[in-house]
Amino acid sequence: MDTLRVSSDRLKADFTALSRFGATPQGGVDRPALSEAHLAARAWLRQRIQSNGLELRLDLAGNHLAFLGCGPPDAPALLLGSHLDSVPDGGRFDGALGVLAALEVLHTVREAGLSLPVNLEAVDFTDEEGTLVGLMGSYALAGHLKADDLLAPRGGRQHLLASLERAGLSEAGLLEARREPSSLAGYLELHIEQGPRLLQAGAQIGVVTGIVGICSYHLAFIGRADHAGTTPMPDRLDAAQGAAAFTLAVRQAVLQDFPECVANVGMLRLLPGAFNIVPRRAELSLELRSADPQSYAQLEASLLELAKVEAAHYGLDLEIEFLNRHPPTSLSPLAQQAIVQAADSLGLSHMSLPSGAGHDAQSLAPLCPSGMIFVPSQAGASHSPREFTTWDDCLNGANVLLQAALYMASELIS
Ligand code: GLV
Ligand code: MN
Ligand code: MN
Repeated sequence: MDTLRVSSDRLKADFTALSRFGATPQGGVDRPALSEAHLAARAWLRQRIQSNGLELRLDLAGNHLAFLGCGPPDAPALLLGSHLDSVPDGGRFDGALGVLAALEVLHTVREAGLSLPVNLEAVDFTDEEGTLVGLMGSYALAGHLKADDLLAPRGGRQHLLASLERAGLSEAGLLEARREPSSLAGYLELHIEQGPRLLQAGAQIGVVTGIVGICSYHLAFIGRADHAGTTPMPDRLDAAQGAAAFTLAVRQAVLQDFPECVANVGMLRLLPGAFNIVPRRAELSLELRSADPQSYAQLEASLLELAKVEAAHYGLDLEIEFLNRHPPTSLSPLAQQAIVQAADSLGLSHMSLPSGAGHDAQSLAPLCPSGMIFVPSQAGASHSPREFTTWDDCLNGANVLLQAALYMASELIS
């Protein structure tokens, strides 16, 4: 019998339709979690789910789920999905491909009339990207989200509250969105690689072995506002100097002492912010990542120490605000085996690799066998409108998701 495949035309039509929500002139999307563009994309998704005979389910974290009862009524669900939110000025593929491919797998299984030992659900998780909290919907569903996570979120407390209100969600609801783990048979996510390794190796499919840990802080260097024309240079307590020196020192420290890790200063704000005032305050975001738990902890300690050293060097005070930390996560050997088997059955070349990006799969991995499929990113570009994956690669990924789901379904309950 021929290997079952998804419909390329239907998936492409969905992808094209979804790409219009938050579309930017540069060819990307600007669709931060719970923004108007994101909510419009979700309204479209609800309609797509319902018009295709799937059952729409919404949880208290705003996660959107499509349910297909292809297994016994009391059987757990194999969850397939990703996220529809984007980073500011992001690309069309990050998250969107995984959600639409998941939906397409459900359509394909339904049309083929397959009976499986599990039910299937496609999921669009809320706020994977962290413009609000980061992995918020999947953390809530997995029961990891705590009230503290909502007090000092990455995107700011007021922004979180306003966004929840816009979407008709609440903090109390988020904290009650936990799903019974026994209702989850497993989780599979298709995603673009967002890096260059598959292309460099000439592999069509990535079998993801694990996901980096990610840790976020706000730092503020505090000096003194002074007249920028009359205050002698040696007398200034210039907050910008501390922030700039720290930013350069972070890069140097990672390159020298933590070659397997990365760190990023992605936001920088000088206050009060004028040509003619010595900055009294410099605020920055610090994010660091490592796949190895030990170097993760060492890197965190050493970058915070660097901030203290640079602050002292320029006579500044320092405020350190911890935001959140996600541990490095290994993905399920069973899921990896399912993906390898699926790629082989479709005649696609594959390689194993870790993920340097965060994903909802890291929230699910402690609860149920979880895996990820990567497809190549042209030029390794992502979190940018330059993000691009060829349609053949998108389609390969969706077919691997389908076959891996069928394999997982049969192996999980046997
Ligand atoms: C999500 O894409 C992240 O890795 O920040
Ligand atoms: Mn993503
Ligand atoms: Mn992303």
